[in-house]
Amino acid sequence: MAFASIREQAGGEGGGLGTAVHVEPEQQAGDGTAAAIRERHRRRQATRTRPEITTRLVLRTRASREGLDVMRWAHRLLSSAGGGAMAARSVKHALDAAVEAARWAPSVHNTQPWTFHLDGAEIGLKADVERQLHVSDASGRELLISCGAALFTMRTVIRCEGYEPIVRVLPDPDRPNLLATVKAGAPAQADEVTWVLGGEIERRRTHRAGFADVPVPERLLQSLERAAMNEGAKLTPVLNPQAIAVIAALTEAAQGVQARDRRFTLELLRWSRAPESTRMDGVAADAHGGGRTEPYFAQREYAWRREWVRESGPGTAVGTVALLSTVGDGREDWIAAGQALQHILLHAAAHGVSAAFHTQALEMDQLREFLRQQLCGAAYPQMIMRLGVTLDADPDSIRRSLPEVLEE
Ligand SMILES: Cc1cc2nc3c(=O)[nH]c(=O)nc-3n(C[C@H](O)[C@H](O)[C@H](O)COP(=O)(O)O)c2cc1C
Repeated sequence: MAFASIREQAGGEGGGLGTAVHVEPEQQAGDGTAAAIRERHRRRQATRTRPEITTRLVLRTRASREGLDVMRWAHRLLSSAGGGAMAARSVKHALDAAVEAARWAPSVHNTQPWTFHLDGAEIGLKADVERQLHVSDASGRELLISCGAALFTMRTVIRCEGYEPIVRVLPDPDRPNLLATVKAGAPAQADEVTWVLGGEIERRRTHRAGFADVPVPERLLQSLERAAMNEGAKLTPVLNPQAIAVIAALTEAAQGVQARDRRFTLELLRWSRAPESTRMDGVAADAHGGGRTEPYFAQREYAWRREWVRESGPGTAVGTVALLSTVGDGREDWIAAGQALQHILLHAAAHGVSAAFHTQALEMDQLREFLRQQLCGAAYPQMIMRLGVTLDADPDSIRRSLPEVLEE
């Protein structure tokens, strides 16, 4: 593929520390077919060995000690591998790379509710309403957050490819499903931070268990708050133990209500991927298991009464609970929340910090309103997450191939 992971270009995350497998950029040249994608997954799994985990912990220690200095370290690593000061490639190359990478954005239940239209000079990002969750997300809020995350991914890649992105959000009132258009503007050298974010796009994964008992550094939380603010949203770390207990209780209550409601259950099952399934969307039914936190943050039951469980990870810590909110609650705000979400997740991932999501309570109007009034200062909560350090690799994820998301 065109846009190789920064760490892979640099010889793997541990390249400078002598651990990870080296992957040539040319070897990345996948054609977007299912086989190529599976091969990439296999390679990624191969690099997620114990030595790499040790490397990740080293990286985390560095991150907590030196904060953003780790980015300079990563940039030096990249530059020494000859990939840092990259000249701008063709506009077509940049736009192709942006769409290819956007597929790796997070999306609710991994619905990947997007299509892309490439007309040479411009990408059109469209909502795929066939993939909307009509029971739990009737307004399309989570759909637009997911697409917003894809939009931030495209902006990042276009920068890494050497251009200033030009974005118009909701450009045409007559075409409500056209969420944004993206062009490559003037040539511009990407800064170090953008490079590091770009390197996390395909590596980042959702965590679904407890975390290691290692605090998320205060400085990192502050930079995540700034990242959210840059995109027009607000990230609020929740430090008060009573507030954390309330969020956990609301999550469990919402999970309980949804699990007893046939409509919610059928919708969830539609997006639950059985272990042997070859489909390229949905969440692995055995995506979580073990690592129960105290207070307990209920997970979605993708396995639903079936015997698919993942081996327990070692972590049981809650991590840092955080709420992502916006001042308004319209379509533009949801897209902004999605862009903020992906900015936060990539920045956190670059520092060895993963995120777990618990958005069930936000799918129930009364619970969402309670959270808005009591914990968000009347701003609208868009995501509930826990941030923390994981000791084991997060479960792998999957995406549809490029031809499936490209519209003629
Ligand atoms: C709007 C939104 C809501 C989400 N809610 C949850 C959730 O409640 N529980 C969960 O485990 N994951 C949740 N996720 C994460 C998705 O399941 C995840 O992004 C998707 O399965 C793709 O996997 P990946 O993030 O590992 O690439 C949510 C993601 C988004 C964008």
